[in-house]
Amino acid sequence: MKILITGGCGFIGANAAARYIGRGDELIVLDDLSRRGTGANLTGLRELGEFEFIKLDIRNGAAVDDAFSRLKELDFILHLAAQVAVTTSVVDPRTDFEINSLGTFNLLEAARKYHPRAAFIFSSTNKVYGSLEGLKVEEGDSRYRFAGDIEAVGEGENLDFYSPYGCSKGAADQYVRDYARIFGLDTVVLRQSCIYGPRQFGIEDQGWVAWFLIAGMLKKPLAIYGNGKQVRDILFVEDLLDCFDAATGKIDDVRGKVFNIGGGPGNTVSLLEFVKLANESLGTGLKPEFKDWRPGDQPIYVSDISKAERELGWRPRTGIEEGIRRLYEWIANNREEVGSVLG
Ligand SMILES: NC(=O)c1ccc[n+]([C@@H]2O[C@H](COP(=O)([O-])OP(=O)(O)OC[C@H]3O[C@@H](n4cnc5c(N)ncnc54)[C@H](O)[C@@H]3O)[C@@H](O)[C@H]2O)c1
Repeated sequence: MKILITGGCGFIGANAAARYIGRGDELIVLDDLSRRGTGANLTGLRELGEFEFIKLDIRNGAAVDDAFSRLKELDFILHLAAQVAVTTSVVDPRTDFEINSLGTFNLLEAARKYHPRAAFIFSSTNKVYGSLEGLKVEEGDSRYRFAGDIEAVGEGENLDFYSPYGCSKGAADQYVRDYARIFGLDTVVLRQSCIYGPRQFGIEDQGWVAWFLIAGMLKKPLAIYGNGKQVRDILFVEDLLDCFDAATGKIDDVRGKVFNIGGGPGNTVSLLEFVKLANESLGTGLKPEFKDWRPGDQPIYVSDISKAERELGWRPRTGIEEGIRRLYEWIANNREEVGSVLG
């Protein structure tokens, strides 16, 4: 396969790139290297094998057009490049919009012009469903639960973009979906929940699973915003890569579709439970300090992954305990690098 990954030096992108290099795909990695840690990921990828690297800012439509015009027939475009933190989107909503909405639009237009037969997968986010105000929530000892029969959030949930990040990713999500309808592109939207794993330079503002474990390893102060009973379904990055494979493998059946992708009801954890698990199974010694809630924080989000199970034949394979052990090993093996990247 001939594959282009945008944001290919980021956390998910570098893991995908490593897999594709390993199996001998022809790979092009596109990234502007704006995220901290991307230089380290690029160096690591170069040690694994050959690929083309294009340093490019996806906000620049003419540059995207030029790069796409020079590439020969792509089979698969994996679009991951993004401004990824809600907090940053509140500080600088224009940049967030330009990267996430306009950048995605630039890529769709270039794909339509030069690579109309390529599968185009977009990593969207559960934030398109907003704070899920319509769903009643109960508070337990260590976690929130949905009240009633609801176990998880399906693709039929109302769209309710919340925060500039939710709006910019949500607009991109709808554009990607619509380019299948109106222009016949083979696009798929994956509304991802929390993803975690090696090569994740998590910080307080984004990538909390990695951040908690890094804070434990490097003995940094750790804050929990709210009471810590917030629940997330978390997905190990290798399982997400399996999902990309499943979607590209069935692209004729799933083009134009949207899937919620996460750990699902079998892989949920609250922040309090995560701290306990990490302390007990990895000896992280985390002692978080509690601070005020962050605006728009969902008390509970769990992806209903049954559509993906049915239509993609995909399901997560890595349990939370195994996944965090593998991430913690990566942090331990790259301790100096992680410390210097995060300062
Ligand atoms: N990690 C998660 O838990 C999660 C959850 C839901 C959705 N997502 C989505 O998945 C995608 C990948 O996330 P990630 O965790 O790997 O994030 P990441 O920040 O590690 O990767 C994003 C990459 O995009 C690059 N980038 C940023 N702005 C760019 C620009 N203007 N031009 C070119 N490249 C640019 C960054 O340098 C970085 O390498 C994003 O679209 C994100 O919104 C991630």
